[in-house]
Amino acid sequence: MKNISQFRDYFPEIETLYNNKPLVYLDTAASALKPKTIIEAANDFSLKKYSNISRGISRLSADATELYEESRQKVLKFVTGQTGENKLLITSGATASLNMAANYYYNKLLPKDEILLSIAEHHSNILPWMELVKKTGAVIKWVDIDHSGELHLSAVAEKITSKTRVVALTHVSNITGSITPVKDIARLVHKAGADFVLDAAQSVGHIETDFLDIDCDMAAFSAHKVYGPTGLGFLYCKNKIVENFPNFFVGGGTVDDIVLSSAIFSDSDLDANITNADKTNALNYDFELIYKDGLARLEAGTPPISQLIAFAEVIDLLNNIGLKNIENYEKLLTKKLLDLGKIPDIKILGSKNLFNRIGIISFVSKNIHPHDLGQFLDDLGIVCRAGHNCAIPIHKRFKENSSIRFSLGLYNNEDDIEKAIDGVKEAQKFFISKR
Ligand SMILES: Cc1ncc(COP(=O)(O)O)c(C=O)c1O
Repeated sequence: MKNISQFRDYFPEIETLYNNKPLVYLDTAASALKPKTIIEAANDFSLKKYSNISRGISRLSADATELYEESRQKVLKFVTGQTGENKLLITSGATASLNMAANYYYNKLLPKDEILLSIAEHHSNILPWMELVKKTGAVIKWVDIDHSGELHLSAVAEKITSKTRVVALTHVSNITGSITPVKDIARLVHKAGADFVLDAAQSVGHIETDFLDIDCDMAAFSAHKVYGPTGLGFLYCKNKIVENFPNFFVGGGTVDDIVLSSAIFSDSDLDANITNADKTNALNYDFELIYKDGLARLEAGTPPISQLIAFAEVIDLLNNIGLKNIENYEKLLTKKLLDLGKIPDIKILGSKNLFNRIGIISFVSKNIHPHDLGQFLDDLGIVCRAGHNCAIPIHKRFKENSSIRFSLGLYNNEDDIEKAIDGVKEAQKFFISKR
């Protein structure tokens, strides 16, 4: 296994002092720290090679377009193992991607058609479907998790019916860190004639994610959770999905032609064939849109150009380290972090063992409100999340309103884990002594 700690240096922020203490960053599930290589790549492009893409006839624009498209292919290869099959739409983040995914079904669902979601979903994979249900009359059916936070194939199987049109699930829970058996689920979903949409926001960059192998129809993720820039996300789509997407987010770059009646032009009086009635009607409604084929129809406006070019550097870095190495390294740290469960009065939400999970652990203390605990840890230089973390249903499932979440990135080390565990112990002592 590669010595992962040598890559800690790539992330300058991890070496900074925070609240006068060495920073312990345990909030990667919210957003990952950035390697300096992406800042350098974004700067190099923005300061020396910048141009808008796909529009100009200039060489500058052509070069920028080439770099941008190469970067897209690099990301596509990272999540599918190849570049030829299927498409990778550029969006502003996983939330935007999941909204797009839900909107795909806007003109495809009938009243009482069924959408399956799990109780473990992030709000970004719940709310777009709830809004869709309001517009279409379709219904949401909920798949439950077990007491240890695991989402089982059998639970999905129980809920699938002849009315199921789409199943949208998280690959890895942002609360429990549990990995969903997505490949088996995809097979089951397709057998039932439905589509499978994957929320891969917490899996990409932590475990091997091959969307082709999983055989999902769409998959969403954000760059910023994978050590990349903000404002950049992806929606992987099978080709058939791209072809059938409705035109709901349109604008510059999406059309080849806008056909208008010449009656709307002020000098149309010169054309003897155009009557006054033509002019009035044409002003109101005569037009035809000739949309471009493929991805271009769905990517309106100027995209996050320098962000994607910078993100390609992250992909190089992750490929260089090797995802299997990252996975194994994070597993070692997670094993140690699970010792949290041995601290009296600490309850881990979900699985307490290493099996089938990544380094995301949410927990509550019987004695301390998560916000107080989070504040105490912050004072010690330990950055984590406190709250419902955009996952109210799963918190309700565990009979909690909120929790503290520790989540790992490839810059963490054993020292970080020891400090985090000691910090929680110290907090317990402090708050109990105040009673
Ligand atoms: C599982 C999951 N899905 C979707 C999202 C939304 O990601 P973003 O805020 O980058 O759009 C998150 C963010 O925390 C998440 O954890």
